[in-house]
Amino acid sequence: MKKTILSGIQTSGALHLGSYLGAIKNWVALANEYGCYYMLADLHAITVRQDPAALRETTLRQIAQYVACGLDPERNTLFVQSHVRAHAELAWVLGCYTMFGELSRMTQFKDKSAKNAENINAGLFTYPSLMAADILVYKADLVPVGDDQRQHLEITRDIAQRFNGIYGDTFVVPDAYIPKVGARIMSLQEPTAKMSKSDSSPGGCVYLTDSPDVIAKAFKRAVTDSEASVRYDAEAKPGVSNLIEIYSACTGKTAAETETEFSGRGYGDFKKAVGDAVTETFRPIREEAERILADRAYLESVYRTGAEKASAVADATVREVYEKVGFLAK
Ligand code: TYM
Repeated sequence: MKKTILSGIQTSGALHLGSYLGAIKNWVALANEYGCYYMLADLHAITVRQDPAALRETTLRQIAQYVACGLDPERNTLFVQSHVRAHAELAWVLGCYTMFGELSRMTQFKDKSAKNAENINAGLFTYPSLMAADILVYKADLVPVGDDQRQHLEITRDIAQRFNGIYGDTFVVPDAYIPKVGARIMSLQEPTAKMSKSDSSPGGCVYLTDSPDVIAKAFKRAVTDSEASVRYDAEAKPGVSNLIEIYSACTGKTAAETETEFSGRGYGDFKKAVGDAVTETFRPIREEAERILADRAYLESVYRTGAEKASAVADATVREVYEKVGFLAK
């Protein structure tokens, strides 16, 4: 029997180089060996205020991008989180097995509360219980994510173990799959901060939809240092090290090979090469995503079929959990 993968990306903004290299690229690589559920996390997205029309559009575009990245909907279950009721149902139950103290320690909650001081809502706080439900409802073995989700995976494991300890084996305790290269792509403008869709500095974040021109400009302006030497040292040279990491992830070359390739050459050359590597990685995906996005009937069939397949599995887990906790059967 194939093992199971579940992962997802919030539909709160456009896909970018970080979410591509940290997550999707590995989803595609793992897709043949596992039974895969890849989700569009719209329930999670509304923990931060979203414009309804923009949210719908982003969600549709993201489905097209999943497919364009190489996730074949015939072989992977691609679905929208809110289309599968079991996520919200299990999240409520798991919330009763998640401790206030645990949630208070989540760095993502602390970061997001600081950034959204006017809207520190309960959903932002209980976000990890919903994420645990996403994973545990499919009894996933493996969860491919970037480094910033490590803590959420740990709390998911704790919740699963706690529940299993009380009610007997119910959930699979999942492992995180965090790639060796590309797990933490940094902002091009502020290389000590993670690249993210909420990046406020223009050019800090490179999106899957960006044209080659925009990408070239962003890399040309990328913050480096005054040493003029392409050498990996994340502490002393965060900007250059981030560019090496991006180059390695896009070309498959190691950091050492990259250093050799650019030894004695200036940053101008190097930045151009990194920009080209990203452009060539994104170009086919962008073009294919636009083509797919134009075919709304096809997109609908992808997410409807995905929701049906996902619901069949997820509903069975919720029934099992309801029975274990003692809810009266309907
Ligand atoms: P999200 O939407 O913030 O990011 C999606 C995925 O992309 C990775 N990622 C990065 N990797 C490397 N460098 C970066 N700069 C970078 N930025 C983002 C993230 O680690 C993630 O893998 N809570 C999740 C979404 C989610 C989920 C789930 C994930 C909801 N339910 C269940 C896995 C399983 C999140 O906010 O990811």
